[in-house]
Formats: sequence, C-alpha cells, structure tokens
Amino acid sequence: MERKLNLGVIGLGGRAASLLGVFRRVHSGLRVAAVADPDRDGARHRLRSAEVPDRDTAFFPDADQMLRHAGDLDALMIGTRCNIHTPIAVNAAPTGLPLYLEKPVAISHEQIVALRDAYRGREKSVVVSFPLRVTPLFRKVMELVESGRLGVVNQVQAVNYVPYGGVYYARETYRDFDVTGGMWLQKATHDFDYLNALLGTPTAVSAVMNRVAYGGDMPHDLRCSACDLADTCLESPQGVARRGDDGGVGTSDHLCVFGDGIKLQDAGAALLAYEDGSHASYTQNFLSRRSAASRGATVTGYEATLSFDWYKGTVTVIDHHRDRVDSFNVRATSGHLGGDEALARNFVDVCLGRDESRTDLASGLLSAAMCLAARESAHTQRWTPVGDVYLETFPNRVAPIQPTPLHVEPA
Ligand SMILES: NC(=O)c1ccc[n+]([C@@H]2O[C@H](COP(=O)([O-])OP(=O)(O)OC[C@H]3O[C@@H](n4cnc5c(N)ncnc54)[C@H](O)[C@@H]3O)[C@@H](O)[C@H]2O)c1
Repeated sequence: MERKLNLGVIGLGGRAASLLGVFRRVHSGLRVAAVADPDRDGARHRLRSAEVPDRDTAFFPDADQMLRHAGDLDALMIGTRCNIHTPIAVNAAPTGLPLYLEKPVAISHEQIVALRDAYRGREKSVVVSFPLRVTPLFRKVMELVESGRLGVVNQVQAVNYVPYGGVYYARETYRDFDVTGGMWLQKATHDFDYLNALLGTPTAVSAVMNRVAYGGDMPHDLRCSACDLADTCLESPQGVARRGDDGGVGTSDHLCVFGDGIKLQDAGAALLAYEDGSHASYTQNFLSRRSAASRGATVTGYEATLSFDWYKGTVTVIDHHRDRVDSFNVRATSGHLGGDEALARNFVDVCLGRDESRTDLASGLLSAAMCLAARESAHTQRWTPVGDVYLETFPNRVAPIQPTPLHVEPA
C-alpha cells in the first residue's frame, strides 16, 4: 500500500482536475482531502470527470477556511487563475506544507517580491507547474548538451508556433489581461524556463510584440450565437465545423475573438542575453494552426547543432566536424508530452521527503521576472534588465546593469 498523502486543492478548475488524475495514477495513496473553490459543484464535477474519488473530500468556499484545517493536510496545490496564485500562496506559506503551484507564479514585480519573501529558504519545497523542463524529450536534450556533444554553446533559437491560440481570445478568463498579465506570462514563462536550464542566468531582454489578427472592433461580450457574421467567420462554430480544426476556440458557442476589449498580443519575439555571453531568441505566434505547430529550439555549439521539437517528439544532432547525424524519437503520449507525469512524480517525492523540486520556486520567480522584462521592453523598445529577484532592491537596480562584456566587433 502506498503511503497516504492528504492533498488540499485551492482552485480546482480544468488544469487542476487533469493534473489530479495524473497525481492519482502515479501515487494511489494520494487523496484529495480538501478543496477550496467558490464553484463547489463545478469542482466536484471536474474531480469526478478526472476519476478522482471525492467521497471523503471536504469542500470550502475559499482558501482561508480550508487553511484553518491545514493540520489535516500533507500538501497543497494552487490551481486558481493567474492573478491570485501569489496572494493565495503567501497566505498558505505559514502552513509550511509542500506546494504545487500553477504558473505564472506571479504577474507583477510586487507579487514576485511577496512570494520570494514568503518562501525564502524553502524554494525547493515548491513544485512550479513547468512541464516542458521535465519532459522525457527535454531531459534527452539536456543529457546530450551536458555530455559535451555540442561543445561550447553560443546560441539558441527557440520557437513556439501555437496551434490552439484561439483559446486565449475566446475564453472568458484567458482573454482578460488583468487576470493573466498577458501572453509572455501566460505562454513564454514555460519557454524562458527551459532556456534558462540550457543557458544559465539571463541578464536582459529586448522584445517586440504586436496584435494584427485578434481583437478588433466587435463588442467584447458578443457570442457567435448572436453574431450576424457567424456563417462566414473562420472562428465561429460554423467555420470550425467546415474546417474540422478548432484552433483552440472550441467547437461550441464562444466569445468573439475580435472583441474590442482584447489587449493580448498575437505575436511576440524576444532576444535574451545570458551571463556567460551566450544568447537566445524566442518567437511565439498564436495564429499558427494545424501542422504549422512547432515548439522547440535549435541549440548551436562548436561541435554540433541540436534541434528538438515537442510536437514531432524528435531530437536531432548534426555533428559539425564529422559525417554523423543522430536522431532520437522521444514520444510520450500523456499530458504535456509526459511533462505532467514527471511533475506529478516529483511532487509526490517532494511531499514524501524523497526528493527536492525539479522546477522550484526560484525558477518560477526568475521566469516571471523575464516575462515582465519582455513586456516592458516591448513598450520602451529598450533592452530591459531581468534583475536578480533575490536582491532586496528588486526590481530596482542598485547600479546600472553591466552589459555582458563583448570581446568582438568594436562598436
Ligand atoms: N502548467 C501548464 O501547462 C498549464 C496549463 C493550463 C493552465 N495552466 C494555468 O492553470 C491555471 C488555471 O487554469 P484553468 O484553465 O484550470 O482555469 P479554470 O478557470 O478552469 O480554473 C480556475 C479555478 O479556480 C477557481 N477559483 C476562482 N477564484 C478562486 C478563489 N479565490 N479561491 C479558490 N478557487 C478559486 C475557479 O472556480 C476555477 O474552478 C491558470 O493560471 C493557467 O495559466 C497551466
């Protein structure tokens, strides 16, 4: 019999429910002992849909009421929407319980500081929901890079061509900038995190973003069912049915993706400078569809070039100085290409004291700081320092950021 683990879940929506199904599969001793969610019936329904037993689950309308019973719990999970991850995590910190925390961990500099201070010294008891970094495919990438096969790495080119981007403009909560903090925090936070695993400490970001397709002048609360243009619109249920691919908007009635309140980018790109002088570029695009989907990177070293793509499940290494190309197929069928299962195993191990977090709070805070720097840079059109989130003065710099010394091409 596996050791019992009583989990308290705060915010049991779609994402939390799907993860809880995975948690139960990797550790049958895990029990959802308590749930705090204002939508009690919905939360119960989602638990059942994920085949997670709820017979002995206590339901609370909010986190504070649940946390009064924290003594009955072994661990916590926060799966609310983005803007309240930090305040709830800060309130939960005095319990000292291991925490599974959805991304982005924070959506403002103030939240980063509050979260940092609340968990200082026990960052490794927090598992941040960054599935990419722990996928079997990315572990293969890291194994090859760390083996020295690529030699010294000087550059990474990362792409994220999202084939389901419609969800961010059509779904009520995802389209609200004030809830998510925008598409750097919503999406790039994952990619920046794996880039840090490859290249180390980022120093500064220069970014651009725009919105050319989504948003517009349609009423923000218009639904396809009330729209005169639904028969011809590519994004309506009728358009989706004709095409056979929903691009993320779903197959049923939904909010207009051309609504006039939409503030989110539909494309962005960032240049990231790293402490060791290497750099990365990252492109995200939410218009891509079907087989235009791609997420991964090309990593260039002196000895070889490595390319990987999560959609294809492939890693390829092309040697530069000999006639050799190696290809690896690293396919994983479960959620987020095996990343969710790896996160679940790691979280259970953290709860049982068998391991520390592989996606700890420090990585979540750093990635959030990079997203905020990218957002700011796109507005100011200047290189923006990421800042050291562990400096008391963060996000303000005590001294001007030192540019990475360039030993090449005098200005
Ligand atoms: N890591 C990943 O790969 C990944 C994937 C998808 C979503 N997410 C993140 O997961 C989070 C949740 O997304 P979702 O799609 O499940 O959203 P959702 O709206 O389905 O779920 C949010 C839940 O929180 C509940 N809630 C709202 N206010 C609350 C409060 N004050 N206290 C407790 N519960 C409250 C809601 O009733 C709902 O059940 C988002 O931050 C999103 O960015 C992460």
